[in-house]
Amino acid sequence: MIIQSESGRHATAGCEQPKNDVYALYFGMGQRISLIDDPRVFRVSPAGEAFAELITRRFGGRHRDARFLDLGTGSGVHAILLRQLGMRNVTASDISQKAVETARANELLNMGEPRIEFVHGDLFDAVLPGEGFDVILFNPPGWQTPSATFISALQKSTVAEGLALETMFYGEQTLRQFFREAPRYLKPGGKLIVGLNSLVGIADVMRDLYQMHEGCLHIDWSLLDRQEFPLLLYTEQWQALRPLLNEEVARWTSQGRAHCRFTAEGELFWSYEVIEFSFKPLKG
Ligand SMILES: C[S@@+](CC[C@H](N)C(=O)[O-])C[C@H]1O[C@@H](n2cnc3c(N)ncnc32)[C@H](O)[C@@H]1O
Repeated sequence: MIIQSESGRHATAGCEQPKNDVYALYFGMGQRISLIDDPRVFRVSPAGEAFAELITRRFGGRHRDARFLDLGTGSGVHAILLRQLGMRNVTASDISQKAVETARANELLNMGEPRIEFVHGDLFDAVLPGEGFDVILFNPPGWQTPSATFISALQKSTVAEGLALETMFYGEQTLRQFFREAPRYLKPGGKLIVGLNSLVGIADVMRDLYQMHEGCLHIDWSLLDRQEFPLLLYTEQWQALRPLLNEEVARWTSQGRAHCRFTAEGELFWSYEVIEFSFKPLKG
């Protein structure tokens, strides 16, 4: 038997195995989702919540027969929200097998029976393009490739292991590959909705995007939402490395490779920017 404790955490009666906690999020218009809190799976951040609210605003009550793909689904939050909003055709993928398993369990927790196609793979590797998607969502890793100093400090860290480095770092490399492949997976008139973190180096990501499709595709983009958030560190390991991480981010910013703002108290804020992209082949 699972008992909901006062703290909201789950305790177990008798000799049953302890269960992961469950946390609940609300995205407006009655859209509430409960998620298993597994330390190996990305916990939905304020940015992920802002992305979910945007999905509710933009797609609620419409586009039910459109084909949606949620890349880097993590806990499955955005895929489950789409299904809850009435979308009939949702596929979701993550490079982490643990994330995919947890996302499946989260769908059952919220919807009772499985309908979303969850697949495991690097970006589009496990995704069948079929006739293409109307909308591809991606809330990618938000931090860029760390320095050798940071990686070696992480390797030496004695604090318990947390999320894989790829969950939050190497974002600019992941985005380069994503933007290279994504247009092929869209239906004509289809759209990408991507949440970009200013710590990933948005100007460089955009320059890469234009260069890779130069002469082949016309690219349209519009900024749908922008908010500032404090840098939250979810794992003990990252919290232990906070001073080094702050230095890392300050260096990226001073070199023009990222943007952040420090308050007088030394708190670091970053900018979260949700952008819609569409592509048209250039004639000739
Ligand atoms: C910032 S988290 C977002 C998770 C979830 N969409 C959310 O908003 O809460 C990024 C996710 O992308 C996944 N990811 C990182 N690189 C990937 C890749 N190459 N292919 C697929 N998923 C990837 C990570 O495992 C992680 O779950």
